[in-house]
Amino acid sequence: MPKLYIETYGCQMNVNDTEVIFSILAGAGYERTEEIGEADVIMANTCSVRDNAEQRIWGRVEQFHARRAAKPGLLVGIVGCMAERLKDALLDSGKVDLVAGPDAYRRLPALLAAAGPGHPQIDVELSREETYAEIRPVRIDKNGVSAFISIMRGCNNVCSYCVVPYTRGVERSREPSTIVREACDVFRRGYREVTLLGQNVDSYCWKDGDQRVDFARLLEMVAQVSPELRVRFATSNPQDISDEVLYTMARHENICKHIHLPVQSGSDRMLEKMRRRYTRAGYLERVAKIREILPGCGLTTDVIAGFCSETEEDHALTLSLFEEVGFDTAFMFQYSERPGTLAARRYPDDVPPETKTRRLNEIIALQNRLSLESYRADVGKRFSVLVEGPSKRNPDELCGRASNNKMCVFPDRIHKPGDYVDVLVTDCTSATLLCELA
Ligand code: SAH
Ligand code: SF4
Ligand code: F3S
Repeated sequence: MPKLYIETYGCQMNVNDTEVIFSILAGAGYERTEEIGEADVIMANTCSVRDNAEQRIWGRVEQFHARRAAKPGLLVGIVGCMAERLKDALLDSGKVDLVAGPDAYRRLPALLAAAGPGHPQIDVELSREETYAEIRPVRIDKNGVSAFISIMRGCNNVCSYCVVPYTRGVERSREPSTIVREACDVFRRGYREVTLLGQNVDSYCWKDGDQRVDFARLLEMVAQVSPELRVRFATSNPQDISDEVLYTMARHENICKHIHLPVQSGSDRMLEKMRRRYTRAGYLERVAKIREILPGCGLTTDVIAGFCSETEEDHALTLSLFEEVGFDTAFMFQYSERPGTLAARRYPDDVPPETKTRRLNEIIALQNRLSLESYRADVGKRFSVLVEGPSKRNPDELCGRASNNKMCVFPDRIHKPGDYVDVLVTDCTSATLLCELA
């Protein structure tokens, strides 16, 4: 059986897509390997969201090419979000045998069968329907506790900085019964947590005749699989997260109390230019509502420093918004212009790199303090933790997340991955709650 090795870059959706690819190619006789040296097919499932992500992958293409030179017959494929944007450059390089976009994975067996020296194969067509609905992903996670389930693909927003709508196409929702079936299936196999994935989960919508399932309803359906199955989701967009979703979270103990709510900027002028469909005040109203309906709910965000024409005043507004909200953690980036996006076409990328970096560092420094404050506020509290496995630092300790998504570590030699454990928080760092069994 030919052996298939896949490296995955980018977001959780890409990880889930890699699981779908393994499943499709297993059906065509390919066997998964984690050893690149024994692979007959090497793939990189790629990310285009920022320039440094792409640069890393170009580096890998060189290394794969060197392997191919040493092992005739070895096939190298580039799949995922870089495929559409860089198909020509990839094929022209002569270093890859296959380029396939995120909606072409069902055709991978045929593409691989046709690929060979001098016959590179390409399929970057995006689809309006493909959701890989009935495919049962081959789980590649290590812990066997937490699984990711894609509930939709693509994105219909047009945030001006973002390449995702171009790499992944229009938004499509997956049929709810297949999502629930997948959740039941992983639960039966011992998983105790599922994370429902979409670029904008709140716009999930499935219509069939007069039946309509929105995200709140879908959440409820998945939560009802078992009270022992935790449900998480990402990502929520501030303009779309409804009170109904918040009330659904409140009604179900097993829907984790954590919302990832990317803000991107604290300045209305920037938000408008980014084509985000909310204002600073609108964002803060959503945060207030979350805290009213879901006291103690974890809140995390994404932010971009140095977007086109950002001034010191705009930047100060981001800092003040961070201070006002007090996120638990944040993914913080400096703006990276993406060819083809609205921002690249319309706005000069005019914030000097050193200014971007300085602003990013100011946000990071502030967030470090806010994280510590947020984690400290949990010292003395009790949480139910889903054990994921031994702690990375100390094999005598276990780790797992509280409902609010904060990582907890605690001395324990008895429990095992997948168990729920009650802990008391005794101390913390800015990224971990240090606990003892309660
Ligand atoms: N759908 C999600 C996130 C998609 S990409 C959302 O709407 O929030 C993940 C994060 O990457 C974004 O939230 C944004 O903070 C960051 N990002 C996207 N494009 C970027 C770019 N061109 N430069 C820097 N960061 C970017
Ligand atoms: Fe990109 Fe905006 Fe869609 Fe998120 S919502 S994937 S940032 S276009
Ligand atoms: Fe994800 Fe990167 Fe694509 S963030 S959707 S893998 S561009």
